[in-house]
Order: sequence, then structure tokens, then C-alpha cells
Amino acid sequence: LWLWVQLQIPPRDYGENLSNAIWPLIKQMVEECIKDYFTLDKALKVNESDGERHKMAIDLGIISKIPGPPAIPILGTTYMFKWKVEELVEQFFEYFHFYALEGIGAINLWLGPQPLVILIKADYVKAVLESNALTSKGKEYSILEPWLGTGLLTSSGSKWKNRRKLLTPAFHFNILNSFMLIHDQEAQIFIDQLELNADTDQIFDIYLFVKRCALDIICETAMSTKVNAQKDHSHPYVKAVHRMNELSFLFARMPLFWLKPVWYASGYGKEYDQTLLLVKNFTKKVIEERRLEFRNHEYDVNSNKTSENSNKRYAFLDLLLSLYNEGKLSIEDIQEEVDTFMFEGHDTTSSGIGWTLWLLAHYPEYQEKVIQEVDAVFGNSDRSCTSEDIKDLRYLDQCLKESHRLFPPSPLNTRSVEDDFEYEDLFIPRGATVVISPLMLHRSIENWKNPNEFNPENFSPDNITKLHPFAFIPFSAGPRNCIGNFIRNACNKKL
Ligand code: HEM
Repeated sequence: LWLWVQLQIPPRDYGENLSNAIWPLIKQMVEECIKDYFTLDKALKVNESDGERHKMAIDLGIISKIPGPPAIPILGTTYMFKWKVEELVEQFFEYFHFYALEGIGAINLWLGPQPLVILIKADYVKAVLESNALTSKGKEYSILEPWLGTGLLTSSGSKWKNRRKLLTPAFHFNILNSFMLIHDQEAQIFIDQLELNADTDQIFDIYLFVKRCALDIICETAMSTKVNAQKDHSHPYVKAVHRMNELSFLFARMPLFWLKPVWYASGYGKEYDQTLLLVKNFTKKVIEERRLEFRNHEYDVNSNKTSENSNKRYAFLDLLLSLYNEGKLSIEDIQEEVDTFMFEGHDTTSSGIGWTLWLLAHYPEYQEKVIQEVDAVFGNSDRSCTSEDIKDLRYLDQCLKESHRLFPPSPLNTRSVEDDFEYEDLFIPRGATVVISPLMLHRSIENWKNPNEFNPENFSPDNITKLHPFAFIPFSAGPRNCIGNFIRNACNKKL
């Protein structure tokens, strides 16, 4: 059926144009099956042994009031999804614009049996992101759990709240200063690597260079370890992290893979497990080595200095080890946070820088303006870039923001609805997953003029004041916003 529909329906059609003869039949079949399923499911609603957790039953009557393309049992709306990622993204844009033009603020899709509510209206996005009741991540993050455990990115409830409180002091300006040196050294290697390819008339993919540089930076800042990915392209950890990202994405978008037998029969399950072991063993070894080295130092979390040597540079791992010494974290907790920061810190940063370079290359007039600004700040000097310089690079900031608008590195984020959520005319029943897509919001005709065009003027001091505060959310917002935002800002501008 899926294959047939793929062949029959161009992306613009949402099922309404299926042949008149077949469509009512499918619709009736779907409605009957779903009605039966949910009647049964509600009847099965049971209290589990702790007496608190209930089996989730989604009130279909309510969720079906949210408009969206037609779903069928088991596959939901995935039978309509385009297979190629580029085409799938195109298809989502079509959905988003189609419903936005109808004045609809949220739509309903089904990822297999899981209902998704995708927010279109910036006001709804604000209500969801600012809500303290909606801080649990969606089930789609579960593929990351064997790798990242339940670290800051994937944890929920009181564990997430405590961890966030514990780790926030790590992100103060002192730690940023200690990271600046690492950014400098790695940026220099980055330039040297590019120079090897410059003026050779050979086309090369700059993104791979950016990615390796970002990985070196995060390894050193998070773990105080050099993996030299920029020079040693075949480092097993570098390759493994890359593959983990690919496999995780594959899993998230294909509900069939959520069935373990299918996941393992496809061969991806085994590959995932082997790659995972490699990544975990590497970080475990680094943590152990650093723990031995760290044992003799006293570390002051708030000043990022030690009693022995106030000039010594400290990594994020040292903060975690100091919390371990105080009995606030276990070694397993440290491992999940290090893995989380390795993943979150390099994948998003390299995507942001990669797209910015791509856009500046395609729009030489804006590139020229950036060059003029850099020349005005640094003149002929090749000195290091300081935090003051970073503040002065305002036009570059506009370009980075515009690049994050068009190509947000985290294109969609999800929240699991654990209790019915209500805001104005929006009602989302518990059991559903809310999807907030910066990619869609950033291209919404409601909020942007010519949304698909690269125009750094969108972020000029005048224009920025006119923006809806939730029309631009590359780092999310509210209690679960990006904790690494200001580190990323310095790193991106430097590179
Ligand atoms: C261009 C760079 C980056 C972008 C666009 C970005 C974006 C985001 C977004 C959208 C979220 C929220 C995800 C969600 O709601 O599901 C997030 C969370 C997070 N980010 Fe970033 N990020 C970037 C860089 C970084 C860096 C450099 C670090 C670490 C050094 C980092 C660490 C984290 C962590 C730990 C969380 C989870 C926070 C929590 O749930 O409490 N990010 N990031």
C-alpha cells in the first residue's frame, strides 16, 4: 500500500484526491479499526503495580479534531511519507504551508500508532515551550538512550531538573574563557587543513572539515582529550560517532525499526550495538584516565580554578569529577553527561557552521560585508580573537542567525504529553507527542517576508524588535532550552 501510494500521490495531495471510489472505503476502514482499537484500549486502562502510572489511552475523538492528512491503522500517516530525506522535508513544508494558509494552528500526523501534534502557530509554540508541565522528551529520543543514557538531553522529571541545576554553573564565562584557547588552536589547524586544498582546483566537501574540527573542539572542551580528528581522519571514535548519528536518524524516522526483531533482522541493530560499544569504551577510558589525573587537584566549580594552579585549563569533565568527589554524581552519571555533550556539542555546531559557510559562498555580497567587518576589527593583525572581538562582530552575528533560521541544526524537537494540555483553543490529550519544528517555523510565511531567501537584514537591530519572540527558536526556549548556546556563539564566530 505504501509503495502504491508513493507512486500515486504527488506531494501536494493529502489524500483528498485519491480516487473517489477508493478513498471513502479506506476512510471508513480506518475509522472503524481505530474506534475498535481505542474502545479496547480504554477498557484495558489499568493501574500498574505502583498504583500511579496508567496505561496511556489516547482519546481519538479529541485528537481527530486536530486537522491533518488521513491516517491508516498500524502505519498511521507514514504510508504517505517520501522515502528520500530531501523529498520528505519538501513534503513537510507542503503540509505546513497548506495548513498555515488555511489559518490552522496545529496539525495531527501519526507516526505508526503514535499521534503527533505539530505546532504551526508561534503562540502555541510559546505556550508549549514555556510550560513546566511539558518538559519530557518524546519517545523518538529513545534510540539515543543506550548511547546517552538519561543525561541532560534525554532525561525527564526530577532527574532532569536536578541535573540541570547541577550542571548550569559549568556554563559560566570562566569556562568559556578556558575554551577560547582550544577554539584558537583548533581553528588554526582547520585553516591549515583548508589551505592544503585551496588553489588546487579540486572540489572538496568543506562540511567534513568543519565536522572534524567541531569534534576535536568538543573532545578537548568536554573531556580534555585530543582525538586529532582534523589530522587523523580514520580515528575509530570519529568514525563511530558519525555512524551513531546516521543510525539514530534512520531508527527515528522508520517506525518499523522500532520493532526489535525488524531492527536486528535489518542488520542495523547489530551494527548499532557494535558501534555503541566502541564509543562507550572510548569515553569510559578517557574518564578513568582523567579521574586518576584529577584526584590530586581541588576544583572550585564556581571559579573554574584549582587551588594548586589557577592558570590551568579545566574541561567540563573536571566539573563532573568534582561533583563526583562531592558525592553528587556517580561514574555512570558522568559517562552519560560526557556522551551527551559529545553528541549535542559537535553535531549541531558543525551543521550551523557548515551552512553558514555554504550561504556566504552562495551570496558573495554578504560575504564581502563580513570580510569588511573582520578587517575593521582585526586590521592586518593575526592575533587571537577575544571575547570583546566576538561582541564587535555584529554583522557576522546577523549572518549566523540568518543561517540558523534557514537551516536550524536541530530542525525538530519533541515533547511527550503526560497530562492533557490545554491552551486557548488547542487541546492535546496525554499520550500524544508535540512536535516543534524550528525548520518549519523559520520558513513560515506568517512570520517572515520571503522566508526562503537568505537575508541577514532579517536580524538587523530594527527588524529583530518586530519579530514574534517564538518565530526564531534555533536553541529552543523555556526550561529545556540549549544549555550550550553561548559557548556555541563564541565557537561559531571564531571558526
Ligand atoms: C549551533 C549549535 C547548537 C544548536 C542549534 C543547539 C540546539 C539545541 C536545541 C534546539 C536544544 C533543545 C532540544 C530539545 O528541546 O529537544 C538543545 C538542548 C541542549 N543542548 Fe544544544 N545546541 C547547540 C550547541 C550546543 C553545544 C555546543 C552544547 C554543549 C556544549 C549543547 C548542549 C545541549 C544540551 C546539554 C541540551 C539539553 C538541555 C536540556 O534538556 O536541559 N548544545 N540544543
